[in-house]
Amino acid sequence: MNKNLWYKNAVFYQISVRSFKDSNGDGRGDLRGILEKLDYLQTLGVNCIWLMPIYPSPLNDDGYDIADYYKIDEAYGSLDDLKELIKSAHEHNIRIVMDLVLNHTSDAHPWFQQSRSSKDSPYRDYYVWSDSNEKYKDARIIFVDTETSNWAWDEKAKQYYWHRFYSSQPDLNFDNPKVQEEMLSVARFWLDLGIDGFRADAVPYLFEREGTNCENLPETHAYLKKLRKFIDDNYPGRILLCEANQWPEDVRPYFGDGDEFNMGFHFPVMPRIYMALKKENFIDIKEIMQRTPPIPENCQWCTFLRNHDELTLEMVTPEERKWMWEQYAPDPRMKSNLGIRRRLAPLLDNHRRKIELANSLLFTLPGSPIIYYGDEIGMGENLDLPDRNGVRTPMQWDNSPNAGFTSGKTTSEFVKGELSYEYVNVASQMNDPDSLFNSMKRMIAVRRKHDAFGSSSMEWIDTGNSAVAVYIREYEDDTMLILNNLSGSVQTLKLPAEYQKSYIDLFAGDSHIFNEELTLQPYAYLWLQMEK
Ligand code: GLC
Repeated sequence: MNKNLWYKNAVFYQISVRSFKDSNGDGRGDLRGILEKLDYLQTLGVNCIWLMPIYPSPLNDDGYDIADYYKIDEAYGSLDDLKELIKSAHEHNIRIVMDLVLNHTSDAHPWFQQSRSSKDSPYRDYYVWSDSNEKYKDARIIFVDTETSNWAWDEKAKQYYWHRFYSSQPDLNFDNPKVQEEMLSVARFWLDLGIDGFRADAVPYLFEREGTNCENLPETHAYLKKLRKFIDDNYPGRILLCEANQWPEDVRPYFGDGDEFNMGFHFPVMPRIYMALKKENFIDIKEIMQRTPPIPENCQWCTFLRNHDELTLEMVTPEERKWMWEQYAPDPRMKSNLGIRRRLAPLLDNHRRKIELANSLLFTLPGSPIIYYGDEIGMGENLDLPDRNGVRTPMQWDNSPNAGFTSGKTTSEFVKGELSYEYVNVASQMNDPDSLFNSMKRMIAVRRKHDAFGSSSMEWIDTGNSAVAVYIREYEDDTMLILNNLSGSVQTLKLPAEYQKSYIDLFAGDSHIFNEELTLQPYAYLWLQMEK
């Protein structure tokens, strides 16, 4: 495979830098902390890490409110620390992408401060100002828990400004060519430092147009194509990963003709994995995969089970959302905006086989998977913490005081109870061959050996048993047959005649002819390679 297409079969790992590892005892995670843990990440087997925002920020949105695009918040380290981290990561065969927040800045950003201060400021047009708060009425509100309008009144400017997220995050005005240029310069700055690409935050909302819902507009695609061309021309092999929480048919244009995003998150498949596990039926996953249009050959989906935000339920029907809340958010504190602010392990009742099965789906469905830090050991959440911080608690390295996360006093609280670091931590799991960590490591190792998992091919096999998701993944002459028992009971099935062949079990290593009735234990999964 062309080495510039490395992302097509890569395993990603998402890191909240603030929460991963503190190297200097100030209680906050930092870049040198990640440097210390590269061996760990290499052992797990991931190919690329995604760093959440490290820019200076008032932290009203945990760093997604940027006050300076050209600096690193001192608490995380320096530009030299980042360079060293990139260099060492590359020596570990790990790439690094970071967040690029195009849509908005913090209200503390000097651009906004100047913009609000006078109508004559050269920065006035960097943001979207209006005398009326009646424009763009068809744009929905995203942070429904806290915001009542996408307009906020600014006393200083004596006008309203437009914001799609918190009111402390004014939207940049992409109709201004200077803003477009600025953001290319920002990208250039980090690419010159050696970063391997960007997870581009909240891209559907760059432009506003009356009479539309102000999402996915043609102007937005045109600008993103410019950004991609700039990267391809100057930094081949670096990538753009699209965060567009949209239906598959609406994400599809973000791939363009292979000239816009290299990758895009597949948001709608995620809640359907949780639906399938509760309903013990694969139909919702199958339907959304069949609704997913083909993408250009040089593009890839990015799949995930959890991330730093709430488990979003925007891409389900209102009835499904209500049902998901009933099933997975029994305590009202678990709800957040249109989602659920919980971690993978507690969502799945800390049931080891269910957690593994969910990961088996993640690793075998089309797309490159992302693991959210801590989910490889089954960390829990802390619902006492506000907003989405409940799922961004310090990484649990060992059972020493402060979890091996810091030698000082942490600025964030740990998970409490049965999923706390006393019971769930990296050190004990690395030593235990039967741990979740070691199962994850095995799955990643197997996945990385087979290009079939990075291919776009997927064929559902009908066995007449709706509790077992069975599908073929294929690349050239490498054919995988995957079986996932979504139910808590033993399931039997018979493969259709044309698949009754000899297969190698990719975990056990032995081969069998599957021509008889097959039995799967509760939540069992089988990854089989057809013998050539
Ligand atoms: C994205 C991020 C989220 C952030 C929002 C605004 O959705 O994932 O954490 O709050 O953008 O930047």
